Amino acid sequence: MTEADPILRPSGRRAVLIDGKAAAAQIDAAVRAGALELAAALGRPPCLAVVLAGEDPASQVYVRNKVRRTERAAMTSVEHRLPADISQDALMALIDRLNADEGVDGILVQLPLPAGLDASAVVQAIDPAKDVDGLTAASAGALVLGAPGLRPCTPSGCVYLARRALGDLTGRHVVVIGRSILVGKPAALLFLEADCTVTLAHSRTRDLPALARQADILVAAAGRPGMVKADWIKPGAAVIDVGINRVEGPDRTSRLTGDVDFEPALDAAGFITPAPGGVGPMTIAMLLVNTLRAAARRAGLPLPSAVADLGAD
Ligand code: GUN
Repeated sequence: MTEADPILRPSGRRAVLIDGKAAAAQIDAAVRAGALELAAALGRPPCLAVVLAGEDPASQVYVRNKVRRTERAAMTSVEHRLPADISQDALMALIDRLNADEGVDGILVQLPLPAGLDASAVVQAIDPAKDVDGLTAASAGALVLGAPGLRPCTPSGCVYLARRALGDLTGRHVVVIGRSILVGKPAALLFLEADCTVTLAHSRTRDLPALARQADILVAAAGRPGMVKADWIKPGAAVIDVGINRVEGPDRTSRLTGDVDFEPALDAAGFITPAPGGVGPMTIAMLLVNTLRAAARRAGLPLPSAVADLGAD
C-alpha cells in the first residue's frame, strides 16, 4: 500500500466518521422514487408484511421504525402483531397465507421469536421470492453461489458503508469478527462478492488482536460492548461497528454502545462508523431496497433506476 492509498488517513487527523444516517436517508429517498415508479406499473405500491410476536420492547421499537420508514418510502406496510403464546401452527399458517397473497411482496418475521417457538422453521417457510431478510436456505444458497437473490440487510449495509468510505473494495483485506447467521457469516460472503480477501474470526480465533490489525476493513459483529480496542486497528483502517449493546451507566441509566471502544479508536482508524448512527439505520434502508427488489422481480420488471444506480448490490 502506498501513501496515496485512500485507506491511509492523513497523518495526525482523527478518523472520518462514516455517516450511516445520511447514507440511509439517501437510500430511503431513492427507494421512494423507485416505489412510486413501480406502483404506476403494478397498479399498487410495493408491500411489506411484518410479523411481530410477543412484547419484546426492542423488537417493538424496530418494528415501529420499519413500518414508519416503509410508509415514508411510498410502500405499504402490513403489520401482524401476535400474542407471545401464539402456537407454532398458527404462525406457520400465517406465513402460508402471506406467501399466497399476491398483494404481499416481502415478508419479515421479527426475531427473536418468543420462547417455545421454532424460529428457524418459521423463517424457512417464507417464500424465497419474498424473503426480504435474506435468511432462508434458498437465499443463503444463492449468496454462496453468487446467484441472484435477496441478500441479508445488515451485512449489505456494512458493504455499502465500506464502499461509501473507500470506493472500490477490490483486494482489501476484510476481517469480520463474529459468525452469526444474521450478520457475520453473510457479511464474509458479501465482502467476498465485492472481491475482498476475507477472514472470518470468532470467539475461538487465536490472537484476535493481531489478526484484526491486518485488516483494511474491520467489521465488529461480536455483540460484546467495547471489545475492539484501538490497538486492534491498523492505522488508517476502516472500522464498521455492527454492535448494538445496551449497557448500564454509573447512575443506573442505560445507553446503547457498539462493539468498538469508540473514543480511542478514533485516533487509530481512518474511517469509522459511530454506534448508534452507523450501521443501524442501514439495516432498514436495505430492507426497503429488498422490498422494492422483490416487488420488481415478482412482477418481472427491472429494479427502478433510482435504486439500481445506488450500487447497493
Ligand atoms: N432482529 C434483529 N435484527 C433483525 C433483522 O435484521 N431481521 C429480523 N427479522 N429480526 C431482527
